[in-house]
Amino acid sequence: MPTHHVVLIPGDGIGPSIAESVRKIFAAAQVDVEWHEHVAGVAAIAKGKDVMPQDTLEAIEHHTLALKGPCSTPVGEGFRSVNVTLRKRLNLYAAVRPVKSLPTVHTRYEDVDIIIIRENTEGLYSGVENEVLPGVVMSMKVASEMACNRIAHWAFRFATRRRRKKITAMHKANIMKLTDGLFIRCARNVHRVEYPNIEYDEMIIDAGCMKIVQDPTKFDILLLENLYGDVMSDLCAGLVGGLGVVPGANIGDKGAVFEAVHGSAPDIVGKGIANPLALLMSGVMMLEFIAQERDDSKIGRQAEQIKNAYEKALLDGQKTRDLGGELGTDAFTEAVISRLNG
Ligand code: NAI
Repeated sequence: MPTHHVVLIPGDGIGPSIAESVRKIFAAAQVDVEWHEHVAGVAAIAKGKDVMPQDTLEAIEHHTLALKGPCSTPVGEGFRSVNVTLRKRLNLYAAVRPVKSLPTVHTRYEDVDIIIIRENTEGLYSGVENEVLPGVVMSMKVASEMACNRIAHWAFRFATRRRRKKITAMHKANIMKLTDGLFIRCARNVHRVEYPNIEYDEMIIDAGCMKIVQDPTKFDILLLENLYGDVMSDLCAGLVGGLGVVPGANIGDKGAVFEAVHGSAPDIVGKGIANPLALLMSGVMMLEFIAQERDDSKIGRQAEQIKNAYEKALLDGQKTRDLGGELGTDAFTEAVISRLNG
């Protein structure tokens, strides 16, 4: 099988150190991936480039795959989020966040296995905000039939391919009758007409949040619009041990960007204690995606090998501090590498 070319955006804050960890583990596992490193966000500005440099965008368009570390976004001012820009520019309309219990990462729950599918391009993240009058600002929530149908199709196709049983759409259509109403109408139709074999139900988002923290094991795939999906991803990350243990992907028809759910963790930068696991898990998710989309069973086996190695490290008590262990980034990386061959 040929080498797969992947754009690596280390990001800023803890990004470069966790990206280096993933590089080392992939190299040790001899994964058939060639990295093409590019910058974005704060790291791009530091190099005198645009926040979202054209060469970074073009590289992702060309290679169609990227692994991205966290990129800081100023709150309430400054430049627009790199993540939002990437999703919009590359039309990465489906965000996928698997949330699964990990060995020895003890939480209130065992056997959580939820996949969150989030519509990534519309809703309140459309970036349409303005000051109507002095002291009155407005943000527009956008929903189009095209995008609602597209994400519903994507979610049901994904559920079918992954042999998942049920999709729960969460919404607030009792209040936002037009926007959220359209979202669930599209999901209902796609289910009824094309995927009646997948179980489908709906929940109002606030009640859904309560039910999910009462018993997350009752949920399988969640389908949400943009803002609810964003909030729900972090809520669910908390069910399995936090932001350091959840991978993510943003997928479109012409490309996919894999990333950890967590941010740049400015409070721990330079301390050598960042947990690389979420980015590593995102890297593994990318290899699984390559294996499926490009029919490359070898890379599928390499994904499995890395997954087994980090699970074994955790079972052996080799954990970073955020998970209650004592290892720093480098020591955890070595712990995974030393378990790659069983
Ligand atoms: P954050 O995820 O960076 O940090 C929240 C808490 O989790 C902190 O205590 C941090 O130390 C800890 N944490 C996060 N990742 C960790 C890891 N891998 N290992 C150990 N501990 C970890 O969230 P925060 O503070 O809200 O955001 C910081 C910056 O990151 C902001 O500029 C924000 O915009 C950006 N951000 C970027 C994201 C991305 O690029 N995908 C996602 C979320 C936030």
